[in-house]
Amino acid sequence: MGKLNKTLAYFQDGSRPAHGLPPSAYRSKAFWKKERKTVLFRNWVCVAAAHELKFPGDVVPVALAEQPLILVRNRQNEIAAFHNVCRHRCMTLVEKPQNVGKLIRCPYHAWAYDLDGRLKASPHFGGTDTHEANGFDKSQNGLVPVRTRVWQDWVFVNLSGDAPDFEDYAASLIARLEGIDFCKLTHIGTLDFGVIDTNWKLIMENFIEPYHVQVVHSSTTDQPLKDHYTIVDGNCLGSAVDLAEESGTSGSLGVSSRYLTLYPNFILGRYFPDQMGVYLNIPIGPNQMMQKRYLYTTEGQNLSEDEVDSLKNLWWDVHKEDHEMVERMWRGRASEFAADGGVLSPVWEDSVRAFQEMIVADVTKSKGA
Ligand code: FES
Ligand SMILES: [Fe+2]
Repeated sequence: MGKLNKTLAYFQDGSRPAHGLPPSAYRSKAFWKKERKTVLFRNWVCVAAAHELKFPGDVVPVALAEQPLILVRNRQNEIAAFHNVCRHRCMTLVEKPQNVGKLIRCPYHAWAYDLDGRLKASPHFGGTDTHEANGFDKSQNGLVPVRTRVWQDWVFVNLSGDAPDFEDYAASLIARLEGIDFCKLTHIGTLDFGVIDTNWKLIMENFIEPYHVQVVHSSTTDQPLKDHYTIVDGNCLGSAVDLAEESGTSGSLGVSSRYLTLYPNFILGRYFPDQMGVYLNIPIGPNQMMQKRYLYTTEGQNLSEDEVDSLKNLWWDVHKEDHEMVERMWRGRASEFAADGGVLSPVWEDSVRAFQEMIVADVTKSKGA
């Protein structure tokens, strides 16, 4: 805790540009351990897109904050989440996305759970052809549920079970999406970037500051820095650009855009007039994360294969430009000379500062405080 309190000290002086979080917040196992039980347990964390579970019986495993989980589409066509742990000997039940039919069957001793997590079979548990055992109550040995909320096409979980209702939690983001008819939202493709060698917070910070855009994305953007502004609004942090004249093609970086997040890990990019990109960011540990980008149109248009390919190529290149930066940001934080966390622009990186303050507030707040 001593080190974490020192972290707070970086935020106390508003008379000059604020320092960023110290490197330990991005690199140390001790900070990660604290962060996973606070930031990633207590908030609504996005873990998948609902369209990845199309049919009843579809199951997708996710590891969040070192907790193996499964998402399941049940017979009522709803998505639920459970801890991915067999109640017999605690083995993970599902390792790959698949359709399991009506039952999730453990491959070790064939215990079987229905799609609502109820234990339906514990074969021979009490001896040959005896499936029950004294003092063993099947109804008490179902899969352990995780609080889940599917909002539009995205699946959020709250591991601690006590975050505010999702609508309240996400109100400031939802208010900024006014005018989008989500019935017309059409998923047109996915980019899977796999594992990125950086701390997940650096990806979030990169997304919500516009300062780097004209430098890092000089070959893909025509958005001048002066047209950008940051957004600091409750759990919604981000940046935006309003262009007087749209110079780019739809879906490119040359159009008016909103770069919005929902604390802690959800990212939604809106590109006027009719494109959207949502990033799935899964923290794995202090030094690694996984990322996917789901591409959507917002007016129900279906694009041709060539159009989708060219959008995918564009966004692949843009993300790779960002990934190189955030991997180097992580490596730079190994230096003795990074101890003060650098300095943040009071104009372009106030959103980053707000994000870091939320992280510090979460990791230093005791449960129930
Ligand atoms: S560990 Fe799952 S049935 Fe034995
Ligand atoms: Fe970027």
